Amino acid sequence: MRILVTGATGFIGSRLVRRLINRGHEVTCLVRSDGAITNPKAIGAKECIVADITNRESMMKAISIAKDVDVLIHLAALNPLIKDRRLQYDVNINGMRNLIDAIVSARLTLKRVIYAQGMGVFGNVHGAIVDEDSQYRPETWFTRLRSDAEMMLWDASKDAGFSISIAILGDVYGNGGWFTNIMVKGLIKSIFGLGFMIPGAGDYYRCLIHVDDAVDALALMADADYTGNERFIVCDDEPCMFREFVYYTADILGVKRPPRMPLWLARLFLGSDIVDTLTASVRASNAKVKHMLNLTLRYPDYRVGVRSVVDEIRSARGNRLAI
Ligand SMILES: NC(=O)c1ccc[n+]([C@@H]2O[C@H](COP(=O)([O-])OP(=O)(O)OC[C@H]3O[C@@H](n4cnc5c(N)ncnc54)[C@H](OP(=O)(O)O)[C@@H]3O)[C@@H](O)[C@H]2O)c1
Repeated sequence: MRILVTGATGFIGSRLVRRLINRGHEVTCLVRSDGAITNPKAIGAKECIVADITNRESMMKAISIAKDVDVLIHLAALNPLIKDRRLQYDVNINGMRNLIDAIVSARLTLKRVIYAQGMGVFGNVHGAIVDEDSQYRPETWFTRLRSDAEMMLWDASKDAGFSISIAILGDVYGNGGWFTNIMVKGLIKSIFGLGFMIPGAGDYYRCLIHVDDAVDALALMADADYTGNERFIVCDDEPCMFREFVYYTADILGVKRPPRMPLWLARLFLGSDIVDTLTASVRASNAKVKHMLNLTLRYPDYRVGVRSVVDEIRSARGNRLAI
């Protein structure tokens, strides 16, 4: 199959491109610049098209070059820690508009568009269990933006004749991304307990997924034969309280468990929107993705996953953890 991936240089995208190529697909990557560190050309992608999703003209051009594509996987986005609302709006909303318009204008005959969503769209359900039929109740500016972006895709799919699949991802951890760059780094570099700190009591439930499992799920969504629009929750078998996850990681790293930061202080540092997004308590069921797509998790819970990521970091650094 011919697959176009936006956000191909990202934490998830760069791994997904490799996985899709290994599964025999012809992959075209949409990248912001040729000089990206994980240049997809180096990993055997068919083509790299340079475009910024916030730039309408460059998107029109890029999608018309890509033309013969069966599946488009849209991963280009900014992480929730980026506070600049204008930038977030530009990438999430204008970027989605440009992408949809470019698909329509190039008359792509797509089998499917896949969009990566975050669990935050369910809002803070105080630890209740959600599944694909649960209502979105985004409570923060960021999660409302992400929900609106998804709605634009649902609307477009009615007129434009392509079906959509939404991967609602748990917090994706692995060697790279927020887990290594913020949490592991912050735990290791901690001096007098001041490094990574847990916002609030850490007693809120988070749904987690190892990046390899997230990538497997996205690849299955691209391959699978189902028709119509679908949402899939992609998380592991064991939602856990955030502090359990952090304490386990600290223990495996052999470093001190971090202190907690009162929520009012976290809000002062990070802003209420980010803190509310990161501390929403949700437990989600992964039954649908496992049964309908036959996803077999390599890392069914965070303990197996974190151990493997830390081993990976250690072996890449000659058994030293200094980052
Ligand atoms: N990681 C998680 O825990 C998590 C959880 C839930 C959902 N998701 C969703 O999964 C998707 C991928 O996440 P990720 O962790 O891989 O993100 P990431 O590492 O931050 O990568 C984001 C990608 O988007 C690209 N991008 C950003 N702005 C762009 C623009 N204006 N034009 C073109 N490309 C642009 C980046 O390109 P550059 O390399 O040029 O910056 C990068 O390739 C996102 O939609 C994210 O919201 C992630």
